[in-house]
Amino acid sequence: MPEYIAKTLFGLEKVLAEELQNLGAADISVLNRAVSFKGDKRLLYKANYRLRTALKILVPVTEGVISNEKELYDFVRTVHWDRFLGVNDTLAVEVSMNTRLFSHTQYIAQKIKDAVVDQFRDKFGSRPSVDLDNPSLRINAYISENSIVLSRDSSGESLHRRGYRVRQGPAPLNEALAAGLIKISGWNTGMPLVDFMCGSGTIPIEAAMIALDIPPGDLRADYGFRRWKDYDSVLFNEIVNEKKSLAGSDIRIVASDISSDALRLARQHAQNAGVFKNISFSATDFRQFMPPAGPGMVIINPPYGERIVQDNLNELYTSIGDKLKKEFAGYEAWVLSANAEAMKHIGLRPSPKVILYNGQLECRFNRYSLYSGSKKESKSIVS
Ligand SMILES: C[S@@+](CC[C@H](N)C(=O)[O-])C[C@H]1O[C@@H](n2cnc3c(N)ncnc32)[C@H](O)[C@@H]1O
Repeated sequence: MPEYIAKTLFGLEKVLAEELQNLGAADISVLNRAVSFKGDKRLLYKANYRLRTALKILVPVTEGVISNEKELYDFVRTVHWDRFLGVNDTLAVEVSMNTRLFSHTQYIAQKIKDAVVDQFRDKFGSRPSVDLDNPSLRINAYISENSIVLSRDSSGESLHRRGYRVRQGPAPLNEALAAGLIKISGWNTGMPLVDFMCGSGTIPIEAAMIALDIPPGDLRADYGFRRWKDYDSVLFNEIVNEKKSLAGSDIRIVASDISSDALRLARQHAQNAGVFKNISFSATDFRQFMPPAGPGMVIINPPYGERIVQDNLNELYTSIGDKLKKEFAGYEAWVLSANAEAMKHIGLRPSPKVILYNGQLECRFNRYSLYSGSKKESKSIVS
């Protein structure tokens, strides 16, 4: 059975492994920002279409050891690239590396491309050309110290691009990260989910898609594997047309934000994703927000402070803590933030604290339990 590598964001590896388990993958093993697994072509297509926390699915072609540019070139030429590519096809090369051997990824990508096209020229007197946007084959090279893995990228554009986002809000969450937050929170789709700082709507939209069992690939027509020589369109159509479950008819997802611009965008995105009627939207300062009765789940991603001075930010986080303590009895609240200092001002004791990355920013994803009137509440509040 072929082996695949699903790439993800730091901190989401275990969630992705669980998703793969549910898809029926074999030999799952958790790596750094990735999960390896085995399966057939059906699973490869399904992984691209159904995994919410994966960014790319790579199909390794070969791996080896190199110690300089010449060895890199020779190593790339050991693969018979005409198994995957014709002279009239196009290619692109993407490199990620963590090595002292080379310093410029662009330059190394160029070298790898040269090795591939030189092989074609020598063999056929003609060569495939480069297309960075829509190549017939996207080659992925991962170089870690002296080891190199060359893979075919079966996804193409990153899988977090579901296709419902028309324009970026000021600080939108990566869709795969938002899906990961919901999975980590353990949200039971039978209880209300509230995001009172929803921005462009990523958390509520991903939550609705999870609850309604809408595949994350529902809106996406394009995947790298659809341009491969061995593409099986019947098989892919079967996967797309698989019966959807009848999940989530009574879901309650509530989204609000102080910015009416953000709300407009969130509504538009929800419309595009086909979940508009499953989310109640309102433009409100969270201080005036009226939560549905608990038990329920809050997941928010407050501003981190790129445009706000720290004192004001601390105040904002104090107000978030006050609001949660006073009006969210019976809820569990999860807060994602890159500002550890401001998070202390929430004034509740988090357990557990999860470390995640939003782009380059290290974030904490903290859980606060807000049990109403019980001993647990007084324990969780920092005095
Ligand atoms: C980091 S962004 C959230 C991004 C969002 N998760 C997304 O995917 O687009 C923080 C949001 O908090 C909102 N916000 C700031 N102060 C607020 C307040 N007092 N009440 C409600 N929302 C507020 C901002 O308008 C902004 O949209």
